[in-house]
Amino acid sequence: LVTTEEIGFNPFLHDVIANPHRFYKIMRREAPILWSADFRGHMLSRYEDIRGVLRDPDRYSSERDRSRYPPPRRRGDDGITSRTMLNSDPPDHTRFRRLLDRYFTPRAVSELEPHVHEIADDLLAKARETGRFDVMEDLAVPLPTTVIAELLGVPTGDRADFKRWSDAVTQPLTPTTTEEEEEHRFAELNEFNAYLQAAIDARRSRPTDDLIGRLVAAREEDALSDQELLSFVRLLLVAGNETTTNLIGNATLALLRNRDQLELLKARPDLMDSAIEEFLRYDGSVQFTSRVLKEPASFYGVDLGPGDSVILILASGNRDEAVFERPDELDITRSPNRHLGFGDWIHICLGQYLARLETKAAMTALLRDMPQIEFDTPAEEIRYRPQFNLRGLTHLPVRNS
Ligand code: HEM
Repeated sequence: LVTTEEIGFNPFLHDVIANPHRFYKIMRREAPILWSADFRGHMLSRYEDIRGVLRDPDRYSSERDRSRYPPPRRRGDDGITSRTMLNSDPPDHTRFRRLLDRYFTPRAVSELEPHVHEIADDLLAKARETGRFDVMEDLAVPLPTTVIAELLGVPTGDRADFKRWSDAVTQPLTPTTTEEEEEHRFAELNEFNAYLQAAIDARRSRPTDDLIGRLVAAREEDALSDQELLSFVRLLLVAGNETTTNLIGNATLALLRNRDQLELLKARPDLMDSAIEEFLRYDGSVQFTSRVLKEPASFYGVDLGPGDSVILILASGNRDEAVFERPDELDITRSPNRHLGFGDWIHICLGQYLARLETKAAMTALLRDMPQIEFDTPAEEIRYRPQFNLRGLTHLPVRNS
């Protein structure tokens, strides 16, 4: 087995997106390196291989081959090809990361804890009135966008615009993006950039304590350009919103399908932290990341050269039977649980503590206010968004029976 076609792995099909794990199992067992024409790279599916690449940034670069995406029809900054910490190597990466790290430490994030719970509780309060609701639309989507808007310092009155812009920023350019869609996206993006630029300028004359204000202050010290600052803000939206939204949805689905674990978590709320690690392992929202070789390397007899891409299937590593016992079982008490859901090493998720906090707030509110939670839709009607990497549900209607 040398190509994804031979195992029928087509990441654009709903059935494949809905259950990629059966393919990963075949890959791990029979084709631990597999060529994917769709991703223009070799897929690595075993835990040790993935971790080895993540931990070797000197040989595996994050300056990814951006030509994989269709080039924007218009020149200029499209928000995807711009340079961010996610797609840079040291020393640039170190500089970018140092600027933001301090706002996302466990300590900094723990200060947000009461308020994030408050936001989740408010969202649930609305559901309590009807007893029915859509986990995605009513909780998983608004929670992270509200949190990040508040962190950045976007006033409540601007939130509707902010939501519209962040949706535009986070939609990936894919081979199926039409010219019209791209035009629309550029228009939204320009508006967003103008809004952010005004927010930056305002903070230059009147410093604020929100994240944009602090970055403006840092900009003075660290010679960060306005362009880089804009990219930071956009990166936080792209990397932080949909990922957390999908984790909350996937976690709820996992519990609904594993009622024993749902009952256990209700009875033992002290297991929540451990449960969240298990949600990240069992059905995390990021399927893969990628790296580009800087020098030749060989995997299972396949020789790769500089410039070649490796696609690291984090979600497969997280089910690797060589590392995890009963990998296909959801076990909220699992320990140890060294999953790769947030990646590893120098690029390990900047927002990991915030993501955990948001997921905890959402799941705590959900189980408290809807203790008899069950599907409010036939299970076979559950649909995934047509997006393989940031894999998540379109809707998840539930009721409190
Ligand atoms: C459940 C939610 C999340 C998941 C599963 C997730 C997953 C990941 C993964 C796998 C990476 C590593 C990518 C790589 O090595 O190529 C990453 C990086 C990153 N994440 Fe997250 N993320 C989540 C939430 C967030 C949040 C809430 C934020 C910010 C508010 C955030 C910001 C970032 C940033 C800035 C990076 C780049 C870090 C670097 O390159 O040094 N993420 N994330």
